[in-house]
Amino acid sequence: MIEVANRLQTVEEYYFSKKLREVAALVASGKPIINLGIGSPDLQPPKKVIDALVEGFSSPVAHKYQSYQGLPELREAICGFYKNHFSVSLSPLTEVLPLMGSKEGIMHISMAYLNEGDAALIPNPGYPTYQSVTKLVGAEPVFYELNAANNWQPDFEALEKQDLSNVKIMWVNYPHMPTGALPSASVYKDLVAFGKKHNILIVNDNPYTFILNDDPRSILSVEGAKEVCLELNSLSKTFNMAGWRVGMVVGDGKHISNVLKVKSNMDSGMFYGIQKGAIEALNCSGMWFSTLNSVYKKRRDLVWQLADTLNCTYDKDAAGLFVWAKLPEGIEAEPFIDKVLKENHLFITPGTIFGSKGEGYIRFSLCGSTEDLEEAIARFK
Ligand SMILES: Cc1ncc(COP(=O)(O)O)c(C=O)c1O
Repeated sequence: MIEVANRLQTVEEYYFSKKLREVAALVASGKPIINLGIGSPDLQPPKKVIDALVEGFSSPVAHKYQSYQGLPELREAICGFYKNHFSVSLSPLTEVLPLMGSKEGIMHISMAYLNEGDAALIPNPGYPTYQSVTKLVGAEPVFYELNAANNWQPDFEALEKQDLSNVKIMWVNYPHMPTGALPSASVYKDLVAFGKKHNILIVNDNPYTFILNDDPRSILSVEGAKEVCLELNSLSKTFNMAGWRVGMVVGDGKHISNVLKVKSNMDSGMFYGIQKGAIEALNCSGMWFSTLNSVYKKRRDLVWQLADTLNCTYDKDAAGLFVWAKLPEGIEAEPFIDKVLKENHLFITPGTIFGSKGEGYIRFSLCGSTEDLEEAIARFK
C-alpha cells in the first residue's frame, strides 16, 4: 500500500467537487435539476475578448512557453484597470503578477509566507479554500467570526484579545462571499492599521467587487497599504471568464517577488491567446459593467421572490453574485438543501460549507437564467 502524505489527512475533497457529482447523477437519471449552487457565470464574456483569443491562435508565438510574469501588455492592462476603477497606481514591472485564477494565488501566497506552525486568520463564514490551503501547507487556521449584527465586518476588539503571535496572514474578502456584505467605510483602513501593528500580511480577495456594487473598492487605495497588503482579483466573475482561469495578485514589489518565487517553480505563463483576451476584457468600458449588472439585478429580484417563498430573510443592500438568506428559526441548512434537492430538484448551497457561522443560512447563486428562476419559484407554489 502506498501511503499518502500526512497533509492529505487535513483536508477533504472540495464540497462542490463531491456534491456536483451527486447533482450530475440526478441529471443523468432524468431529474430536471435547477442548479443555483455554484457561482459559475453562465453569461458570455465580451465578444472582443473571444475574438482576441481566436486571433491569438494565429500568432507565431502562440504555442510557445509564455513569460512567468505574463505579457508586458497584460501587466500594463492590469495597472490601467486598477488606475481607472480604484485610482490605485501600480508598477507593471514589479507590482503585478497575473495568475491562473485567484484561487491559485491563495496557495502561492500561503506557500510564500506560511511555515509549519504559523497561523492564518480566516473569516467564518468564508471561502473554504483559505482554510484548506492553510492546512495543506501545515499552518494553523484561526477563525475570526463575522456576524449579521455588525454586517459581517471583522470585530477588531475581539481580534486584539486573541493571541496573534503566530499569525502571519489574514484573509479578507470584501465584498464578502458568501454574505455579500460590502466593506464598511473604515474597514480597509482599520485592516491596514491592524496589519502594521501586528506585522500581519493582509490579503484582500476581491473577485466580486464589480457585481451589483455601485462602489467598487480596493484595499490598496488606503495610504500605506502596499507595505502590508496584497490584493487578489479575478476576471472570472467580472467578465464571465471563470473557465479561462485569469486572475492577478497586486501589491508591493517585495511581496509580489516572493509570490513569483513560488509560482515560477510551479507553473509557466498562461496561454498567449488567453492573455490577449484578458487584455481586451480589462480594457472594457463602463458599459460592460452596467449591462452585466442589469441582468444580475433582474435575476436577484427573482431570487428574492424565491427566498420569500421559502420564508427566508436577506439583506437587500448586499452585493456580489449570490443571495445569502437566513432560514426560518430552527431549520438546519444541510437537511434543508438535501430535501429541496430531492423533492424540488433545486440545488442551493448550505451555509455550513462556509463555516459554523453559516449554520441556518443558505446561498443562492445568480448564475441561473430568469426562466430557471421562474420555474424554481413555481415549484414551491
Ligand atoms: C471568495 C472567492 N475567492 C476566490 C475565488 C476563486 O476565483 P477564481 O476563479 O479567480 O480562481 C472564488 C470563487 O468562487 C471566491 O468565491
